[in-house]
Amino acid sequence: MTSATEIPAAANNPAADDLAAADLATDHLVLDPAARALLFTEARTANTFSDEPVSRDQLRAITELAKWPPTSANINPLRITFVTTPEAKARLLPLIFEGNRAKTESAPVVAILAIDLDFHDRIPQLFPVRPEMRDLYKDDLARREQAATFNGTLQTAYFILAVRAAGLAAGPMAGFDAAGIDAEFFADRPYRSILVVNIGKPGKDPWFNRLPRLDHEDYVEYL
Ligand SMILES: Cc1cc2nc3c(=O)[nH]c(=O)nc-3n(C[C@H](O)[C@H](O)[C@H](O)COP(=O)(O)O)c2cc1C
Repeated sequence: MTSATEIPAAANNPAADDLAAADLATDHLVLDPAARALLFTEARTANTFSDEPVSRDQLRAITELAKWPPTSANINPLRITFVTTPEAKARLLPLIFEGNRAKTESAPVVAILAIDLDFHDRIPQLFPVRPEMRDLYKDDLARREQAATFNGTLQTAYFILAVRAAGLAAGPMAGFDAAGIDAEFFADRPYRSILVVNIGKPGKDPWFNRLPRLDHEDYVEYL
């Protein structure tokens, strides 16, 4: 069985080639090589999952890591719903786009990542240095949507890296019926789903071919 730590050989892994070509990319990092591989260069998006279960303790370990990276004014708008039971999976599956459904069906756990449009009510708790910031958002839904979407999206990236840090594979998917998920799971809360993430150990033939990334000079400049 393949595991998240059994990684594609470097010869088939353009990310490893890129790094080998750019020695400076490793010479100036303090994160050890195994951790770099696990989190970045050799981590892959899984498209199938084994039936090895994922425990509540593993999920807690993921959230305890993912909560620390930053958000603006520490607003932390992300809300996480772990779908762990067959009953909850049955509610979710019809709301996943057909091309993605088999992936979600095979995953032992699926995370629905949503933003809380009433995140501002937590500002006195989370940003006690300026509790009055809550009032900036109170009567301005558009401003709340903008801040929650931007910061919640940042937090989804932190979440994916935390899944990898737990030795598990993540399969993030935007292909789902967001309004349907919100109605099914969040009818009584001002939450808006932004990403679904399949979580588990990789299954049979889990990887698509590694796709290239932009060359350094195509997206980085130094002024
Ligand atoms: C925000 C986001 C949305 C995605 N949506 C889908 C999706 O709906 N269906 C799917 O099969 N893959 C989806 N993916 C997976 C990407 O295609 C994949 O992560 C990317 O090609 C990189 O693959 P790699 O990690 O194996 O290099 C999504 C990834 C992200 C980050």
